[in-house]
Amino acid sequence: MKYSYTNYYKNPKQDNAMFQVAESLFPEGMCETAFEKITSWPDYKQTDLIELDDFAKEMGVAKIYYKDESTRLNLGAFKALGGAYAVQHVLEQRELNGDDSPLTVCTATDGNHGRSVSWGAQQKNIPCHIFIHAGVSEGRAKILAANGATVHRIDGNYDDSIAACIKMAEENGWQIVSDTSWEGYNEIPTQIMAGYTVLAAEEIEQLEALNVMPTHIILPAGCGGMAGALIAYYWKHWREDLPQIIVMESDMSDCVLESMQRDKIHLVDIVDETLMAGLSCGEVSELAWPILRYGASHVITVGDEGVKEMMRYLAKSEGNRPNIEGGECSASGLITLKTFVDNPELAESANINENSVILMLGTEGATDPELYKEIVG
Ligand SMILES: Cc1ncc(COP(=O)(O)O)c(C=O)c1O
Repeated sequence: MKYSYTNYYKNPKQDNAMFQVAESLFPEGMCETAFEKITSWPDYKQTDLIELDDFAKEMGVAKIYYKDESTRLNLGAFKALGGAYAVQHVLEQRELNGDDSPLTVCTATDGNHGRSVSWGAQQKNIPCHIFIHAGVSEGRAKILAANGATVHRIDGNYDDSIAACIKMAEENGWQIVSDTSWEGYNEIPTQIMAGYTVLAAEEIEQLEALNVMPTHIILPAGCGGMAGALIAYYWKHWREDLPQIIVMESDMSDCVLESMQRDKIHLVDIVDETLMAGLSCGEVSELAWPILRYGASHVITVGDEGVKEMMRYLAKSEGNRPNIEGGECSASGLITLKTFVDNPELAESANINENSVILMLGTEGATDPELYKEIVG
């Protein structure tokens, strides 16, 4: 089946000089500190970078490298690097300030971020409240509750769950640990983004060990926090050799693309929920926005058509490749590449051809086990 796309934006603003805004995201030493602390956690282990030679052949590109986050810290998604790290940061700051008042943390989530925060809170015996929206599956809610969190289900979409979380935090004096940022709320999301860069540091080390330089990197975006963090980190490392960055979104929550087209943050009202639950976010993170604005070479939005097919494709071993547990969001890189290849005007626009070396991110494993089983069998 040929994959189609809903919308595509080639970024005329991508410009290395302007792109130095990425420099200002992380204060000196912040990513290095995150790396030191996270890599010293007892459960830390580098995740695999897997070559998808079979898929590369089918797509007519030179190489594909797939970073498999399904085994990340036993939490099944890259988000493990952010939320739990931010909980640790909050505790360390309180200790520094001599603050020993009772602490309760809270966040809104469509699953994976909340899992990370609740896991981090559970390790430290801190009460935790998690706000989920109507579309979050019962399977995901159960996992949050199993981590000891009080789960509040809110009518409406992800952005409604954020509003409810902020209101309850104000009323009860809870500490919000959000992965998205807004005016006046930046410190914790910056730490979360610094946590995510551990993944980019691993990728760079793994690619360099193979003596490989990617030509294109595909990043999925919800609020864009992860994409923004990784682009900033890649920029610090590669500078003007930065590969082309392709940001992909669900067409049901296309806040990055809509903002790019308007050249300012635009709130998207999510009406339908994508299967790629982690991408269902209607507003770009304020911290990520300037980096995406200048750092994303291409933004593409797609429907859910390819999600199940690509999850099943990953689950089957092919040649020397092991079977990969790829959750709904992990299909995003494969769908995006196939969409570019299936539509010659896109392939040409992004210069994707037989010489291309693609780095993609499998951001989660079976984080909703029941749904995964239903789809993959
Ligand atoms: C599995 C997965 N992939 C990708 C994303 C998108 O990350 P961000 O919201 O930082 O853009 C999320 C966010 O929750 C996620 O859970």
